[in-house]
Amino acid sequence: MATPELAIIPRHVAIIMDGNGRWANKRGLPRTVGHSKGMEAVRETVKAAGEAGVEYLTLFAFSSENWSRPEAEVNDLMGLLRRFIRRDLAELHHSNVRIRIIGDRVKLRGDLLPLLLEAEETTRNNTALTLVIAFNYGSRDEIVRATVSLAKDVRAGLLDPEAIDAAMICGRLDTADIPDPDLIIRTSGEERLSNFLLWQAAYSEFLFIPEYWPDFDKQLFFQALKVYASRDRRFGAVSATPTAVVG
Ligand code: FPP
Repeated sequence: MATPELAIIPRHVAIIMDGNGRWANKRGLPRTVGHSKGMEAVRETVKAAGEAGVEYLTLFAFSSENWSRPEAEVNDLMGLLRRFIRRDLAELHHSNVRIRIIGDRVKLRGDLLPLLLEAEETTRNNTALTLVIAFNYGSRDEIVRATVSLAKDVRAGLLDPEAIDAAMICGRLDTADIPDPDLIIRTSGEERLSNFLLWQAAYSEFLFIPEYWPDFDKQLFFQALKVYASRDRRFGAVSATPTAVVG
């Protein structure tokens, strides 16, 4: 598929990759096969985002609530991330992709944390797409960690509580150096945020599509960008352009 021209490209697209299990169930396959197929969709989406000129792509790969899944599935998801970094890091680096990880790193086991740190370090000066992987990520947990960090500064006498404002809270979130998502896509027909980027989504556009994540591809990604281009974002103000531009 050729890369279509679009009038308005979102700077930051975030995706809740849902439906791996149902994709597998429908085919009588184990859930792990759905996750592996989902990994292929990840690769295609990263490429498509780069081609479209999207600056930030955030993928919700493992939530802080996913620990309650069967141990084998948790291990499988950890293994997929490990393999993704090991196998794809060189190519991502070659494509000038910068990797950022958000989420609580404390609970990550064994070699995973050093691997993630290495991926961030190796790619930190890259200037094309920033691929943000949300791993062991939960928005409420992120906001709690930011609040604790501010409270510690207040207790140490470094911060006047009256000086705390929205920008300061943003600066303590895992996404401190990342702009808010312009577009949040969720696959599989579910229509909720599931503790994903709650603070950052204040003015995001939402798109819920019926396809399961393993079926997501470049064509669906560009369709989503086209829908985004047709939206009229007002950020609480009145419309600047009465007619929205469609790519
Ligand atoms: C939701 O499907 C998907 C996940 C919990 C994991 C998504 C992970 C990947 C696609 C692979 C790893 C990604 C990276 C970036 C390394 P589900 O299992 O909840 O599906 P269901 O709702 O149909 O059961």
